[in-house]
Amino acid sequence: MLVIKTINELKGELNKIDNSSDLGLVPTMGALHLGHMSLLKKALSENKKVVVSIFVNPTQFNNTDDLEKYPKTLDNDVNLISTISKEIIVFAPSVTEIYKDHVKTKIYDFAGLDKVMEGEFRGNHFNGVGTIVEALFSIVNPKRAYFGEKDFQQLRIIQKLVELEKIPVEIIGCEIVREKHGLAMSSRNERLSVTIRQNAAFIYETLKTVKDKFGMKSVLDVKEWVAEQFQNSLDFELEYFEITDVETLTPTKNKNLNIKYRAFIAVYAEDVRLIDNIALN
Ligand code: PAF
Repeated sequence: MLVIKTINELKGELNKIDNSSDLGLVPTMGALHLGHMSLLKKALSENKKVVVSIFVNPTQFNNTDDLEKYPKTLDNDVNLISTISKEIIVFAPSVTEIYKDHVKTKIYDFAGLDKVMEGEFRGNHFNGVGTIVEALFSIVNPKRAYFGEKDFQQLRIIQKLVELEKIPVEIIGCEIVREKHGLAMSSRNERLSVTIRQNAAFIYETLKTVKDKFGMKSVLDVKEWVAEQFQNSLDFELEYFEITDVETLTPTKNKNLNIKYRAFIAVYAEDVRLIDNIALN
């Protein structure tokens, strides 16, 4: 397995590839799980060569404690990747390698996509995501890049980023991978107790019922129903629940049959923040 730490070394390696235009990138922050593995498998099936980046990006954390606690498990990550293919290039740079001596966040105009939901609760988070993803695109120059739909808002923002910056890369959204009981896979799930992790199936169950209700009830009724479910829950605290247009991510009050909608949720369980979403129509 090739684990590369510097930009120069990576560029040297990528120059050796015959058809460098057929390159897939899977950007990650490590602590890899089966959700990441499904991104890698898709990337492998669609590209001659695949790079996975493992980089805990400081500019997307608005809380230093969260950044410090973020799991760094490079050896395990490399082992897990090697179970899929030993041909994948792992790019695991240091913060200095990426940001040199000045960790700076670029500010973007994401046309409001960054102002709602995660953006409302996580400050400058999406400018940090944009900064690192743009940097990775410029270093790797991939033809395709893969992102999970669990972070659907992030996916929309990256689509906007490539449009804004005219980056010639195809952004590929990949379906959410779930644990057996329905909880969306996330590195954070490891921090839940066994019981709460089982009970967290409740989040996806709620979203599936939202989808059923969405055809028959008003948006307000659905939102009130969700709020009630969480008022009655001892294990989970609702941070937000929104139904938005998938294009603009604007929270919806009234349904319009020509628009595609998605429901988004963020929940606290034992101090662990979990997010999920579902397509409604
Ligand atoms: O989704 C993530 O893991 C991160 O936000 C990303 C896209 C790798 C940027 O650091």
